[in-house]
Amino acid sequence: TTAPYTTALVVGTGYGSAVTALRLGEAGIRTTMIELGQQWTTAGPDGKVFCSTLNPDRRSMWFHRRTEAPLDTFLWLDVVNRDIGTPYAGVLDRIDYPNMGVYVGRGVGGGSLVNGGMAPTPQRAYFEKVLPQVDAAAMYARYFPLARRMLGVNTIDPRYLEKTPAYQYARVSRKHAHQAGFKTAVVPNVYSFDYLEREERKEVPRSALAGEVIYGNNHGKQSLDKTYLADAIGTGNVTIRTLTRVTTIRRYGKGYLVGLEQIDASGKVLKRSELACRYLFLGAGSVGTTELLLRARETGTLPDLPAAIGTGWGSNGNVMTARANHAWDPTGSLQSTIPTLAIDNWDDPVNPAFAEIAPLPVGLETWASLYLAITVNPERGHFTYNHATDRADLHWSAGQSAPSVRSAQALFDRINRATGTTYRRDLFTGNRAFAADFCYHPLGGCVLGQATDLYGRVIGHPNLYITDGSLIPGSLGVNPFVTITALAERNLSHLLTTDLKNR
Ligand code: FDA
Repeated sequence: TTAPYTTALVVGTGYGSAVTALRLGEAGIRTTMIELGQQWTTAGPDGKVFCSTLNPDRRSMWFHRRTEAPLDTFLWLDVVNRDIGTPYAGVLDRIDYPNMGVYVGRGVGGGSLVNGGMAPTPQRAYFEKVLPQVDAAAMYARYFPLARRMLGVNTIDPRYLEKTPAYQYARVSRKHAHQAGFKTAVVPNVYSFDYLEREERKEVPRSALAGEVIYGNNHGKQSLDKTYLADAIGTGNVTIRTLTRVTTIRRYGKGYLVGLEQIDASGKVLKRSELACRYLFLGAGSVGTTELLLRARETGTLPDLPAAIGTGWGSNGNVMTARANHAWDPTGSLQSTIPTLAIDNWDDPVNPAFAEIAPLPVGLETWASLYLAITVNPERGHFTYNHATDRADLHWSAGQSAPSVRSAQALFDRINRATGTTYRRDLFTGNRAFAADFCYHPLGGCVLGQATDLYGRVIGHPNLYITDGSLIPGSLGVNPFVTITALAERNLSHLLTTDLKNR
């Protein structure tokens, strides 16, 4: 018997996969996308597709009994997280390893469904350091602008930023940063600021102003399902299968055969099947892609995969921290979930940090300033395949987070000294001021130029490609999705004129 066949198979529907599917579809190549999560288009009993951070239900998390928001407690009370009943195919996953929890999105659109939409382009000098073999001139002239346009990146109107109560929290943090002599920067976003202004005027349903973000935005955000993926479907050559996990990969003629496991929203396995393809693109994200290839190498279905698979992983130096403001510096009870300002201390030669000013949208005054800092952390983790669990284990020690904390602390100690403020220790368990044991920006595992050639071709494996954040070696200096998108655009444009030409 022969297995069902598609010309190109794309694993996942995040940034790298969405770019890949659109460009393959445009080139007339029949493409099937396989996505583990749901298609988030059906409203629940409350009339909404997604639930808010303030009132989470089973839609919030991917097969968890309780939410696992990044803040553990508030005023040391266990009031942040909620029981959400029987496990369900919700939109946000947290994959826990011994010293690191990795947050990822699940559904058609991957991380774009749950992220904050922040869309900065890295400083060119740092990009050149991270990916020296990639032609930066072409990236900055062509692929970054293309990615920003395709993703719908826009910037807040400065007049609105200065007057709206919804960004008082950002202005307070900016003032304190300036008092300490730091620069701040406005960060572009894919959330429509025009929509946000209309939310505030109560002309449209609220989303960013209604506490919606990490469990999905019902309105306002240009997530991938509304941009790249809509265009990909529009080519007529791309289809998406949801609630389906790619489990195994083996060679099959000139192409590959993947094992599929279809589940229902309660996690019950409905069907196991196989799908053959000529071209296989892996876009399951840093953790997902690395796990698929490690499994293939270690179980012997693709035994000659490079030793570099599973190495070069980093958290983009993510650290979360919070400061306690004086009574005369309230941060506001209405806070937009969409961050728009950052403290830019990237040029500090010893402790570089880019710290986004994050909201604490709990609907009441907290006098807290929250931050997600991106730092330079030279430590790298690696994955090994665990035969007993059939999963990849991340090796990352608690000590490996220390450089991230040091750089963030240098910045916020200086702000606290300049303004006479202190850290909030009630938000993370153990009275900690800094949390570097989870991340939003997993990067690496299948690094460009090591596990693959300079265009994402897996070494020694014709027609097998990597197209997501696993290509980026652990650090980028800014939030990563614009770069993941631009790099995928660059790689695809090369592959379409080489491997995929004259098929
Ligand atoms: P991505 O993770 O987006 O997509 C992978 C997809 O593959 C997922 O849909 C997954 O379900 C699917 N998949 C995995 N394994 C599979 C399998 N075996 N079979 C089938 N499908 C499988 N970045 C940024 O630039 N600005 C920001 O503001 C933020 N904020 C932010 C907040 C939060 C809460 C999170 C979790 C993340 C962010 N990020 C962010 C990070 C950003 O979302 C992330 O870097 C990108 O989504 C990564 O894109 P990828 O294409 O690598 O994979």
